[in-house]
Formats: sequence, structure tokens, C-alpha cells
Amino acid sequence: MSDLPASISLREVGPRDGLQNEAPVSTEAKVELLDALSATGVRRIEAVSFVSPKAIPQMADADEVWAGIARNADVRYSALVPNLRGAHRALGAGFRDIEVVVSASDTHNRRNINRTTDQSLDEIAELITLAHGMDARVQVIVATAWGCPYEGDVPVERVLAVAGRAVRDGADGIAFGDTTGMATPSRVTQLVGGLRMAHPDVSVNLHFHNTRGTGLANVLAALQLGVDDFDASVGGLGGCPYAPGASGNVATEELIHMVEDMGVETGVDLDAMIEAAATAERIVGRTLPSQVLRAGPRTRTTPT
Ligand code: COA
Ligand code: ZN
Repeated sequence: MSDLPASISLREVGPRDGLQNEAPVSTEAKVELLDALSATGVRRIEAVSFVSPKAIPQMADADEVWAGIARNADVRYSALVPNLRGAHRALGAGFRDIEVVVSASDTHNRRNINRTTDQSLDEIAELITLAHGMDARVQVIVATAWGCPYEGDVPVERVLAVAGRAVRDGADGIAFGDTTGMATPSRVTQLVGGLRMAHPDVSVNLHFHNTRGTGLANVLAALQLGVDDFDASVGGLGGCPYAPGASGNVATEELIHMVEDMGVETGVDLDAMIEAAATAERIVGRTLPSQVLRAGPRTRTTPT
């Protein structure tokens, strides 16, 4: 495993992808979780989304949350948006890192964003121009990249075509979202390989959900290809309300726990992230799926 990256960049998405799929929690609780995460050493946090409050009531207080947190100057905070309207809101609030989401499958995109994939891509081109005019960066998240809960398998060529269009339109990076945990390591290798062939210089982030237990295996497959940018959510919070059977992202502390032991640095304090996961669990009031939260790091000993 000598050719793994020396370090990776983690983006914590629990406050957005996680909390959007939980019963609504108070603004204060969101601020508490974000403040705990900001103190873990993690360098990127997807803090909120600017979406329709009718579609996702859990994110209706995005402005209040963003105004309420103790911003750490070492953290890049980003916001997810579904459309131009959301981008205007995010830029107006001061965000300079924006993630815009589009699904590779039309059915999922219609249900999530109320547009065909092509309609979203047209709007995203305009959004990128708007954001670049304000010195903001735009990452295009291609959701349902390894399959769609409504359409089943999504052809790799289709996913690459969506990513390619975004790159041509000026996206600063591409993320592939495994919205409902349909990826497996061989499919990760295939898709990332395809993107590298077509766009060798584009930066790629991978966003795995652990719906079918393959999350960390997918991360390992990607690491072996040199991918060094991953999303994860504290405690394994997460899901997508438009995706039946969706479950949380790969748990941040599980990812850190695994890769650090393999010599891959994350810059995150594992104990602090486990504490943040305990905070997340208390806030949402349900047991979260993270096993490292339950068992602790591998060197935790049991009194004899
Ligand atoms: N922020 C806040 N409100 C928004 C908005 C945004 N980004 N985009 C649209 N709206 C509002 C409109 O003002 C309108 O409100 P009204 O009914 O009170 O007049 C309503 O949403 C519908 O507007 P419309 O233009 O018909 O919306 P749309 O069909 O273009 O877009 C979306 C609907 C995309 C906004 C909505 O489906 C959405 O927010 N989806 C996000 C889903 C999501 O976050 N999924 C999880 C992430 S993967
Ligand atoms: Zn997700």
C-alpha cells in the first residue's frame, strides 16, 4: 500500500447532508455541532444548504446558523445549492465555496431539483459565471453517480458526460455522489478511471453513503487510485429525503481511524471527532451508526 496519498482532505458534511435527513433540530443545536466540528482540525465543512424551505424544512434557518457559529479561520466553510436562487443566497451570505448538485439520472434530478439533468446543467453554467464574478469557487456534485433509486444503474458514460459538461462550463471541481450507497470498489475504480482519462487535471471529490456497507471499501479503492478528497459525516449522520432507503455517509471518525492507521494523514484529531459524534448523537436523539463512536479507537483498552 506504499502508493497511497500521504494525506487527504476531508470535507465534513454532517451539518448539511446529515441534519437534512433528521427530524428538525434547533438552530442552537446546529451551531453547537458546527462549533464542535470546527475545533476538530477538519479543514472543510459543508455547513448549510440554501434550498427551498418547503423542500427541506431542516435547512430553513441556514442564514441564522451561518451567522451564529464561531468561524475558525483555518476552516473553509461551504454551502450546497440546488439552483441559481440558492447561489444568490449563498453568495449574499458571504460563502465563497459553493457546491451545486445535479443528478446524473433524470428521474432523481426531477424529484430533487424539479428539472431535467440538462436543464440543471444549463442553469449551472450560468451559476458558475455568477460565482466566478464574485471570486467564488463552484464544485459540481454529480449525484446518483453509481446508480439511481428510481432508474437503477446509471451508465458510466452518462455520468462522465454530465461531469464533462460541468468541466467545460468552468466547474472548479467535480464530486461524485453515491446518493444511495450503490457503489462498490470496482465501480469506483471504473468511474474515477474514466474521469481521469477524459479530464486528467480536474480535481475530484468522492461522497459515499454507507447504505449497503461498502463505504470504507470504496474509500480504500479510491485511495489506491490516488484520490485524496472525500466527504464524510460525523457519526454517520445523513441521507437524502428523496432517496428511499438512503442512509448516512461514511462516518468521519471511521474514515479517519482507518486511513491514519495506514499512514494517510487527515489533520483531524480523532478523539475530538469522536466527541463531536457524541454531540451529534445527543442532538439528534438517536443512536448513530458509527462503530468507532461505539468501540472507540482500536487501541482503546478494556480494564482487566
Ligand atoms: N432557496 C429558497 N427557496 C427557493 C429556492 C432556493 N434555492 N429555490 C426555489 N425556492 C422557492 C421558490 O421561492 C418557491 O417558493 P414559493 O412556493 O413560496 O413561491 C418554491 O421554492 C418553488 O419555486 P420554484 O421556482 O417552482 O422552484 P423550483 O421548482 O425551481 O425548485 C427547488 C425547487 C430546487 C428549490 C427545490 O426542489 C429544492 O430546494 N430542492 C432541494 C432538494 C435538496 O436539497 N435535496 C437534498 C440535497 S441532495
Ligand atoms: Zn449525500
